[in-house]
Amino acid sequence: MDLKSLFLDHLKERLAYAEQALAANGFDALVISSGAAYTHFADDQDAPFRPTPHFRHYCPLMGPHHALVIRPGKKPLLARYAPEDFWYEQLSLEAIWGGTPFWVEGFELVECPSLDAVWEAVGKPTLAAYIGNEVERAETAGLGINPVKLTAYLDWGRAYKSAYEIRNLEEATVLGAKGHLAGRKAFLAGASELEIHHAFAQGVGCLDHELAFSSIVALNEKGATLHYENKRTHKNGETMILDCGARVRDYASDITRTVTSPTCDARFVALVAGMEKLQLELCAAVKNALPFGQLHHQAHLKVAALLKESGIVHASVEESVAKGFSRAFLPHGLGHHLGIQVHDVGGKLAGPDGTFQAPPAEYPSLRTTRTLEPRQIVTIEPGLYFIPMLLRPFREGEHASRFNWTLIDELSTLGGIRIEDNVLVTEGAPRNLTREHLPN
Ligand code: GLY
Ligand code: MN
Ligand code: MN
Repeated sequence: MDLKSLFLDHLKERLAYAEQALAANGFDALVISSGAAYTHFADDQDAPFRPTPHFRHYCPLMGPHHALVIRPGKKPLLARYAPEDFWYEQLSLEAIWGGTPFWVEGFELVECPSLDAVWEAVGKPTLAAYIGNEVERAETAGLGINPVKLTAYLDWGRAYKSAYEIRNLEEATVLGAKGHLAGRKAFLAGASELEIHHAFAQGVGCLDHELAFSSIVALNEKGATLHYENKRTHKNGETMILDCGARVRDYASDITRTVTSPTCDARFVALVAGMEKLQLELCAAVKNALPFGQLHHQAHLKVAALLKESGIVHASVEESVAKGFSRAFLPHGLGHHLGIQVHDVGGKLAGPDGTFQAPPAEYPSLRTTRTLEPRQIVTIEPGLYFIPMLLRPFREGEHASRFNWTLIDELSTLGGIRIEDNVLVTEGAPRNLTREHLPN
């Protein structure tokens, strides 16, 4: 199906859901603005701009200050902020999109040369909710600012991806895979973390702030810092965790590979192979009606088995999980929802009414407690790391003899392992979007 038809179907479906959300929360209209940029404190520079995610969910137009007005039964109004400006380039829609944008037919478009014009176009709709950060303007218009229950209702629905969104995520995966291959090649040639980052961005073909998130390029022991972003430490690495993604129409891929050099310690290489095997098993286990927390528990059982087999921990799988040994090596959640936001919203909701579903006490880092259903996309990203601060209590505690500290200290110089794919839940077998374009 062409992009325009996919988008118009997506919009129709999303407007129907928004109508339900409004009715359930006592509102007649919804105003969403793409938002104002964040200006650094005591400075005149802005952070790279990212539109309000709820705005992007309905409309792929980038840039600040646009406003969308959704009213049941009406074509949504899009007030596009398009000032005359000689400081920053302002392009026509046709120039930005290389012709008539595929999405424009879905909206009643009003071109607005000023902020006042945008808010004049919005008007003062009665019983209207507002989502965004242009709060003063919205208050003046008499709107209900960022209502928590309505927002939760919308967040809940964002977990179910339309065919248009799946297309965007697939294309983001194609680009992310190109970046990964370029980054891997640079690593194997002995590049520095910074050079590998540049190779990734060049492979994707974008500016740094257009990546899905700040790239994680961690060589050797830096792999044990889960979100290591420094990029200034090593070159000629023995191991690399490359956790990077790309964006297409503002939907993100989130892919991690752990690569070893030809001279890497064989025991670590075997651990990577073990992680690859269990990660693929977990991806294959993604299915309709499975609570994500159960899959996370499966991940711990598998990592505990690997720790035992490789002689790192001397304990049965059950004991390793029960006593928290496996958590010292895998301290993060197995995955999260993926979409417009890399850690997409709604993961801890029990339903559209906004009821919170907390992670179980033994797994506080779980990012989604939802039950998997068709059209959800989640990451599956088990890890195994040698993190000194998490191992220290065991080294000094009553279970010290259950760990092979000599082996742990030797492998600690190599950081850790994470392998991450993006998986679509279906009625039947799951679709591993990442492996379709980056098989290993
Ligand atoms: N890139 C951050 C994560 O994998 O969640
Ligand atoms: Mn992730
Ligand atoms: Mn990631």
